[in-house]
Amino acid sequence: MEPRDIEGDLTEILIEEDEIRAKLAELSRRIEADYADKDVLLVGVLKGAVMVMADLARELQIPITMDWMAVSSYGSGTESSGVVRILKDLDTDLTGRHVLIVEDIIDSGLTLSWLMANLNSRGPESIEICALLRKPEAARVDIDVKYFGFDIPNKFVVGYGLDYNEKYRNLRSVGILAPHVYS
Ligand code: PRP
Repeated sequence: MEPRDIEGDLTEILIEEDEIRAKLAELSRRIEADYADKDVLLVGVLKGAVMVMADLARELQIPITMDWMAVSSYGSGTESSGVVRILKDLDTDLTGRHVLIVEDIIDSGLTLSWLMANLNSRGPESIEICALLRKPEAARVDIDVKYFGFDIPNKFVVGYGLDYNEKYRNLRSVGILAPHVYS
């Protein structure tokens, strides 16, 4: 859906659909070059990464394989606690694999920090991260993101996989949610 389909629910459109497409093309060219002679496994983190995974995978002009994890942060509210529970694990053995984690957003960084440690313990040949969005002001740990799209302000953003109460994931662009929606 388009921002006009939810008129009034956004205060601002941060990143338009065509900017996302252009950025994913740019990142794809780098990924193709870096993995030219390697089999890469894209690991998507459900549910937010569904859109970026689908578009990145189709943009890539090299063969890839895909797998998915679902994780949930312990604790209450919207804040990450850093303690993560696996709701759905990978089907793939990571031993000797080149893994590229695909995420929609890095907020505090705690989810990815935990995920990197967890996946690293499984004996992969390499692990890198591709994340479309990053909130530098919200960072609680430093994450080394090799492929990232946009730095955004520490606001409540929705769209392109990002939700509020499971809504707005199918918005084609990324926007700031109006306070009246969640207050
Ligand atoms: C979001 C996002 C990341 C995580 C980032 O997922 O997709 O996985 O939060 O936050 P952090 O850097 O503070 O750890 P969420 O838990 O909202 O689940 P979802 O992907 O199913 O929406």
